[in-house]
Amino acid sequence: MHQLETELERWNYEYYVLDEPSVPDAEYDRAFNELKALEARFPELKSRTSPTLRVGGAVRTGFKKVRHDVPMLSIHTETDFSAAGAAAFDERVRSALGLSPEDPPVEYDCELKFDGLATNLRYEKGVLTEASTRGDGVEGEDVTANVRTIRTIPLRLNSKVPDILEVRGECIMHKADFLALNARQEAAGEKPFANPRNAAAGSLRQLDSSVTAQRTLHFYAYCLGEVSEPFAETQSGVLDRFAELGFPVAHMREVVKGPEALAAFHDKVAAARASLPFEIDGVVYKVNSLELEEELGFIAREPRWACAHKYPPEEVLTQVLGIDVQVGRTGRLTPVARLAPVYVGGVTVSNATLHNEDHVVKDLDLRVGDTVVLRRAGDVIPEILRVVKERRPAGTKVFEMPHVCPICGSAVIRDEEEKDMRCT
Ligand code: IVH
Repeated sequence: MHQLETELERWNYEYYVLDEPSVPDAEYDRAFNELKALEARFPELKSRTSPTLRVGGAVRTGFKKVRHDVPMLSIHTETDFSAAGAAAFDERVRSALGLSPEDPPVEYDCELKFDGLATNLRYEKGVLTEASTRGDGVEGEDVTANVRTIRTIPLRLNSKVPDILEVRGECIMHKADFLALNARQEAAGEKPFANPRNAAAGSLRQLDSSVTAQRTLHFYAYCLGEVSEPFAETQSGVLDRFAELGFPVAHMREVVKGPEALAAFHDKVAAARASLPFEIDGVVYKVNSLELEEELGFIAREPRWACAHKYPPEEVLTQVLGIDVQVGRTGRLTPVARLAPVYVGGVTVSNATLHNEDHVVKDLDLRVGDTVVLRRAGDVIPEILRVVKERRPAGTKVFEMPHVCPICGSAVIRDEEEKDMRCT
């Protein structure tokens, strides 16, 4: 059983992390089924790190709370999107370290800022024992069973590591998996997710881990949590070691010196952003030396040694030409805004979902003829943020959902506590 486990996990790593399978799928399936059969026969010998855990299992009734001994804090966000944002961070670091203009430039590790859920993976003697969400930073939720279904997360570490090692990173959903999931949701008559972040959150916080297993989540490691002995001397060294241990670490990262180089990284990532397989909402700069990090410490629950430098959201103005009502496979009626085509975030958008009547009338107060602010959140789904009221033409009418189905003419009902309408 141990031999099968080791083999299966190696093949899993080759397939999901390296993208270089060394055995045919059928061989993997054969070994997997053999291990499953052995586990059924000898349940007391089933390992905590068995690959059979990756398909999920028993449904739970709630999540256990987990305390983070090393709190999971947030990072200061630089509000200036230009190069001045990077300069301001470098300035704060230099002044906190008491450096004068003559002192050499500070070394930084530049990374991507993932837009997902911060997750803590705890390894004890190299075995994944607990995975938890960030929660409020001090107390999160135990999502171990769900995290085990994420194929790129090692269940066991093969080389020598500290007895206690917490690896922190972000659980996210790739854009392609998000679009495929939403297509499946729609086909099954379920609500689509608003964006990859929501989809990742909904998938990670599933009481039934076999649902998480079907959702294709990814994890990218980006910092240390609790660790029982020194792990590396620099942040980039931490990430190198994570990668050696088999954790996915984003390829786009750089060690640079000085504020101009930070801004250059910010620009470079902006240019590559649309072609990344996942959404990011900025970049993160971290003082590379962990010794200096320690010296810089925290203010107001935010580290002084790191900052997030975001990108301005892409927003454009356009006009609402009409509101169509679409009927889904299960009879749900969804209003969709038909827009004068505009180019935003690399594509031309000519319609945007309006979710339901309340969203159109109460949240947005949107009418046909209105000029609206449209944002392509991340890069996936266009969203109408608000109406430019000053530009409302005369004679517009409040939107009303049809009382009969636009497809078959049957009556439409709205459940009391639901915002959705359905064709009967
Ligand atoms: S380091 C104490 N690195 O941003 C700093 N965080 O606003 C620890 N995030 O909750 C975080 N990408 O979920 C770090 N490369 C990255 C990140 C990153 C995204 C998230 C993280 C955190 C939030 C902080």
